[in-house]
Amino acid sequence: MGSEMDRLTFMKLLGIGGAVFATGVPGFSEALGSAAKASDFYFVQLTDTHWGFEGPKANPEAMGTLGKAIDAVNALDPQPDFVVFTGDLTHITDDAALRRRRMAEFKQQAGRLRARQIRYLPGEHDASGDQGEAYREAFGPSRYVFAHKGIHFIALDNVSQEGSILGEEQLKWFAGTLGHVPKDAPLVIFAHRPLFPLYPDWDWTTTDGQLALDLLKNHRFVTVFYGHIHQEHHHTTGHIHHHAATSLIFPLPAPGSTPKRAPVPWDPAHPYQGLGFRQIHAQPGQQKAGDGEGLLQVSEKALAATQKPAGTPA
Ligand SMILES: [Fe+2]
Repeated sequence: MGSEMDRLTFMKLLGIGGAVFATGVPGFSEALGSAAKASDFYFVQLTDTHWGFEGPKANPEAMGTLGKAIDAVNALDPQPDFVVFTGDLTHITDDAALRRRRMAEFKQQAGRLRARQIRYLPGEHDASGDQGEAYREAFGPSRYVFAHKGIHFIALDNVSQEGSILGEEQLKWFAGTLGHVPKDAPLVIFAHRPLFPLYPDWDWTTTDGQLALDLLKNHRFVTVFYGHIHQEHHHTTGHIHHHAATSLIFPLPAPGSTPKRAPVPWDPAHPYQGLGFRQIHAQPGQQKAGDGEGLLQVSEKALAATQKPAGTPA
């Protein structure tokens, strides 16, 4: 199914057969057409929800944390234009039936979001057990393109294949896709793992990520949003900005700061500490001013800070 979907996506990307407008499925053609006027908007990034995780020391509220995050996003006014989950939607399991059940339950929870559009990416917890098969059944293609109000978005899958790779075939697809993006157009990449070698000893890297970054070198305004490392992190490689968001299950230590990559224990005095989500305000057009500063403004929302004080009416 995946390859068929990929073919269809690519045909839509190229505008073959009028599929873009006949189906209403967004593709880059919309961004390039007159209907895609640049205007300000914002979207929300949620990541690493690990639905199905059990570990009271790391998060005794594991079954309730996603719901709290959804409530917090639903309380935003105005609502975001879309919400993106950047992987590890579910916690890893070897049991294929349980994997599918967790994905169905996760999808049901995410369905409570008021935002009109929800985008998903797989993490290795979702996809490594079956090369992404159950994920694609539940959520559709694991890589795709879309455009929104003058910004081009590309979601990459660096988790479904062994070796923490994008893979040759996907890189070819990526190169072809980028060929349709003007070099001075704002471009946002979503991925689960960092595309740069943040800390390879902890698998905080994409083995062939540099090849993807090389393909982006002539695009002037590129920002990557990712998850995987369960903490806020900001980095630049050349002119490319990379931002990791906090998770919604448990924080992990700073890269290499502890001997093991183990969850930061839950602190009963500060519940939900280190958990949260991110709002990204986009101002397409601002990039013309220079180096892209001001195009995307990233702000973190701590889940603890979104708790209603006791006694506050719902
Ligand atoms: Fe994760």
